[in-house]
Amino acid sequence: MSALLEVRDLRVETVAAPVKELVRGVSFDVRAGETTCIVGASGSGKSLSCLSVPGLLPQGVRRTGGEIFFRGERLDDAAPEALTRLRGSAVSMVMQSPMSCFDPIFSIESHFRETLRAHGVRGRRAMDERITAALAEVGFEDDPAIRHAYPFQLSGGMLQRTMLAIALMLDPELLIADEATSDLDTVAQARVLDLIDAARRRRKMGVLLVTHDFGVAARMAHQLMVMDGGTVVERGQVEDLFAAPSHECTKALLAAHGKLCARMREEERAV
Ligand SMILES: Nc1ncnc2c1ncn2[C@@H]1O[C@H](COP(=O)(O)OP(=O)(O)O)[C@@H](O)[C@H]1O
Ligand SMILES: [Mg+2]
Repeated sequence: MSALLEVRDLRVETVAAPVKELVRGVSFDVRAGETTCIVGASGSGKSLSCLSVPGLLPQGVRRTGGEIFFRGERLDDAAPEALTRLRGSAVSMVMQSPMSCFDPIFSIESHFRETLRAHGVRGRRAMDERITAALAEVGFEDDPAIRHAYPFQLSGGMLQRTMLAIALMLDPELLIADEATSDLDTVAQARVLDLIDAARRRRKMGVLLVTHDFGVAARMAHQLMVMDGGTVVERGQVEDLFAAPSHECTKALLAAHGKLCARMREEERAV
């Protein structure tokens, strides 16, 4: 079976001189119904690798090589209009800081309506049904107040679930989650991860999940790759990497994870 998403030899560089290679020949797959995790320290090129997929690289950098296939079709040379249509429907993203994705002067409901409008859904009733279903999927079925709330009135965890609801609303085939739970406390994080996993199973959706946390990767990943300095330094099944990490970077990240777990266990004992 061919993969839902295939990225081959991706290269990203700075535009301005002196040119810096930021992503240097990165390849990975996401299969339908499975999660591929990218783990790596800050600055290793995780976000640039993800943002290349829907053509959302920030200013100052550009893709200089590689091929990206989605459902077997080339994405990297697709027309801008085709990419815009794809974003938010077949390919959705959730990011680290939901606050920056919401406009503070509009209610939560307006954000859902705007997304539906942008993707051609018309009619108040049709929209209302979609919004109710989307909110229910992330556990807000008993809380109509959420619709009328403004972004600043929700906690970080609630806002992240709301962003996930918008991302899932148009039934994406691929969800890209870039450090989507990194700013949340452990309870809120677990809840969002569970919701992503349930949505993956329900829709047979592919998930590309970026994290710097091996605990998250262990829990979510079918395939795992470790990035360092713009390249993939290690890849494989989660169990194999945990059992025998070969690269220094993986060892360091695992050691940091181990220390964190030990500290959390100590804190638990202290309370
Ligand atoms: N818009 C940009 N212009 C110049 N350099 C950038 C830009 N975005 C990211 N970088 C650099 O590219 C490298 C990889 O960034 P990024 O993919 O965001 O890392 P990660 O997500 O793994 O923390 C970093 O060294 C970062 O400073
Ligand atoms: Mg990042």
